Amino acid sequence: MAFSGTGTIWMNGTLVEWKDATIHIASHVIHYGSGVFEGARVYSTPKGSAILRLDAHISRLLASAKINRMDSPYTQQQLEQAVVSTVQANGFKACYIRPLIYRGYNTLGVNPLPCPVDVAIMVWEWGTYLGADALEKGVDVCVSSWNRMAPNTFPSLAKTTGNYANASLIRMEAETNGYAEGIALDTFGYVSEGSGENIFVVRNGALHTPPLSASILPGITREMVMQVAQDLGYRVTQENIPREMLYIADEVFFVGTAVEITPVRSVDRIKVGTGRRGPITEAIQRRFLGTISGEFPDTHAWLTYVPESVAAPTR
Ligand SMILES: Cc1ncc(COP(=O)(O)O)c(C=O)c1O
Repeated sequence: MAFSGTGTIWMNGTLVEWKDATIHIASHVIHYGSGVFEGARVYSTPKGSAILRLDAHISRLLASAKINRMDSPYTQQQLEQAVVSTVQANGFKACYIRPLIYRGYNTLGVNPLPCPVDVAIMVWEWGTYLGADALEKGVDVCVSSWNRMAPNTFPSLAKTTGNYANASLIRMEAETNGYAEGIALDTFGYVSEGSGENIFVVRNGALHTPPLSASILPGITREMVMQVAQDLGYRVTQENIPREMLYIADEVFFVGTAVEITPVRSVDRIKVGTGRRGPITEAIQRRFLGTISGEFPDTHAWLTYVPESVAAPTR
């Protein structure tokens, strides 16, 4: 979906007009992918707009910066407040949030350390990521011919812009071959994740998801889904998943800020279970979406409400 090109963007402490939020072509991040970012969402609830897991997203952003030897000029609290102010300034009831810490303009050696650490926060309206029907009907996906990065190459625990060169290859290949998304394996051949989402497999009533060591991003939705599954009484394990488990699973679903909880109805044209959203996927979806829309109580304090006027956020 194309941008509307309006609204304001927070850049190094100042809200600037969308069209003025530009950086120099010689900025380090453009050439070497030396940025770290987040993707979070604001939901409209009966009690007002609320940001889902703001604290967790900013804390992962700062962890990604630390792994990349970037000292953030802003603290966790300052960044949380900046996100709230940007959402307020743009007046969206529901939207997507993209904070970014990146190496800016100074020199263009590969070493980023001489370059400044700049920070920006964008917000925009972004609907369902894998199509309007995806949440209910599910998506057809393939196992990618591209692997996720090997251990000790690109740090998968960091949400680094450069890592998304790999994600783009996975996604382009899938779409070119007529699939909604690709599932990448790690370099040992175990299931890792989708190009922009984590994955769960259901078999015989229990849920399984790859461990952090399978080259995955430590997804915040993944963590919430494990909690919801436990709250509903399902057993969840984090373990290596062989590729063929995808073909014999009763249910498979993707989780992430963009896809929320999206059922997978086929992998490599092999039907998953009955080929439609399974009952456990549906139960978890219902509780998860019900919690973030305010239908169920927010027992784990996942929502940060955005006051309509400029004021401190409440959790
Ligand atoms: C590669 C990758 N894996 C998993 C996820 C899911 O993470 P989260 O649930 O924190 O959005 C994302 C999205 O940020 C991602 O880009």
